[in-house]
Amino acid sequence: MTLSTSLHYHPLLFFFLFLLHAPPCPAAGGSWSILLQSIGISAMHMQLLPNDRVVMFDRTDFGTSQISLPNGKCRHNSTDCSAHSVEYDVASNSIRPLMVLTDVWCSSGALMPNGRLTQTGGWGEGFRVVRTYRSCDACDWREIPNALNEQRWYATNHILPDGRQIIIGGRQAFNYEFYPKASTTENSHSLPFLVQTNEPNIENNLYPFVFLNPDGNLFIFANNRAILFDYSKNQVVRSYPTMPGGQPRNYPSTGSAVLLPLRIQQGTVNTVEVLVCGGAPKGAFVNALNGKFDRALDTCGRINISDQNPQWLMETMPLARVVGDLLLLPNGHVLNINGASAGSAGWELGRNPVLNPVLYRPDHPVGSRFQVQNPSTKPRVYHSTAVLLRDGRVLVGGSNPHDKYVFTDVLYPTELSLEAFSPSYLDPRLSTLRPNIISPKTKTKMHYSKKMVIRFTVPGPVNPSLVSVTMVAPSFNTHSFSMNQRLLVLPSSNSSKVVGQSYYTVDVTAPPSGNIAPAGNYLLFVVHNEIPSPGIWVRVR
Ligand SMILES: *[C@@H]1O[C@H](CO)[C@@H](O)[C@H](O)[C@H]1NC(C)=O
Ligand SMILES: *[C@@H]1O[C@H](CO)[C@@H](O)[C@H](O)[C@H]1NC(C)=O
Ligand SMILES: *[C@@H]1O[C@H](CO)[C@@H](O)[C@H](O)[C@H]1NC(C)=O
Repeated sequence: MTLSTSLHYHPLLFFFLFLLHAPPCPAAGGSWSILLQSIGISAMHMQLLPNDRVVMFDRTDFGTSQISLPNGKCRHNSTDCSAHSVEYDVASNSIRPLMVLTDVWCSSGALMPNGRLTQTGGWGEGFRVVRTYRSCDACDWREIPNALNEQRWYATNHILPDGRQIIIGGRQAFNYEFYPKASTTENSHSLPFLVQTNEPNIENNLYPFVFLNPDGNLFIFANNRAILFDYSKNQVVRSYPTMPGGQPRNYPSTGSAVLLPLRIQQGTVNTVEVLVCGGAPKGAFVNALNGKFDRALDTCGRINISDQNPQWLMETMPLARVVGDLLLLPNGHVLNINGASAGSAGWELGRNPVLNPVLYRPDHPVGSRFQVQNPSTKPRVYHSTAVLLRDGRVLVGGSNPHDKYVFTDVLYPTELSLEAFSPSYLDPRLSTLRPNIISPKTKTKMHYSKKMVIRFTVPGPVNPSLVSVTMVAPSFNTHSFSMNQRLLVLPSSNSSKVVGQSYYTVDVTAPPSGNIAPAGNYLLFVVHNEIPSPGIWVRVR
């Protein structure tokens, strides 16, 4: 049964119908709330886990944090008995201290298909350590010494279709390796692109932006250009043109990047686009060291990575931004959040925090894609983080541009608070449009290419052609990049109302392969008129 035939349900529906035809909340700009004044550490790295907890950590060589290790524990060989990792529970809005033994500073990681976080590298005695975290009420970190071939500090990880991670680069590591290893003798493989894009003493290519292209190759962006890379043959498949202007986009000229929503049609994805935004101009790092804070970059480049000869489309943001985070929202919009408008990444090197997130709507016409959102009150500069939660909010934490915890007499004190940004789709005035999934239940299994029926309710009338179903991979966020971030728009039938019932159904087809959706946990959302439902966890295999 369609919308028109269900109108007799409620006299107010005519009013809701009118609302439906109004543009979706152009003036609304989201809202902010402080969740916890202090989590004791500065959330420098964050990963959402499939039980709606978020594991966070900063550094072990940082001094004493403001949260103690449990049960009077101390780290071995250390007088520091404070925690440098915590687990945040979204439902109870509370934290629990965890114990990392070795230094996880500026490290990387990915959620494995089994739902455990595997984190790699760090600094000092943590350079070659792999750590795993399985979440439960009493779980803690496990550490595997000497598990990496190389020192991985500022590397980028991506989950692969075979369920392993690739770990790419890191300071003075112009190569890549896999974890877990296929054998104890599996070596690293060199990656000259990381040498070619490295600027002596400045780098500008750390934490490269890496995405799995649906053809199975990796898109790797470093500094101001990118390659398509076949990691299994160690071959560059394609070199993309340098981004117009040639300005650097990676650490310490830290911008951010995102793989735009992948629309699956007839078992494939036809258009694969990457968006790279912000950063700091050439010389900004050295200038900032000398007290001159250059204006951040205000451009984004967008490119079709699966085309043979693609060109960058350049767009200008309403606000310049360095050390910002690009995040995919469940409705396919991209949020640019956190960051500063001058200087660069690095201790004491950022200025003029950008308090306003900016929304980028990829499907709107060029010139009307950006929309400035309402500001936070807290500067979130270098070492700040953001992740999407299942309820559609964006969890924001961290910010510490200092070598230690510093709370007084500095421009931007170390930030221990946790905050949430609620995009305008969570505005209560839009609740009549908001879907709610009634089945399947969360933690459901999904098999490649198989059909699934999703049942949902919407308080007001539904426009069936404005319903879509999306899946978002939970990413590992640090240093303005969300590793493994991807959003799939599933092929679906038009939703329809079940006769005589108060719910709707939509038939979807699961992603076809691990190249399009590596096995593991995803958040699935029903989106109606750009308003997402709360997500459910699905496990694809
Ligand atoms: C603790 O220090 C001792 C003596 O310096 C050293 O042999 C040992 O490896 C250290 N333990 C750890 C876990 O670092
Ligand atoms: C990518 O390709 C699609 C389909 O051909 C096109 O509509 C879009 O404008 C292209 N994007 C860029 C950035 O060139
Ligand atoms: C969905 O609905 C739209 C508009 O009502 C229609 O154009 C389209 O053909 C429908 N698609 C399917 C798969 O039924």
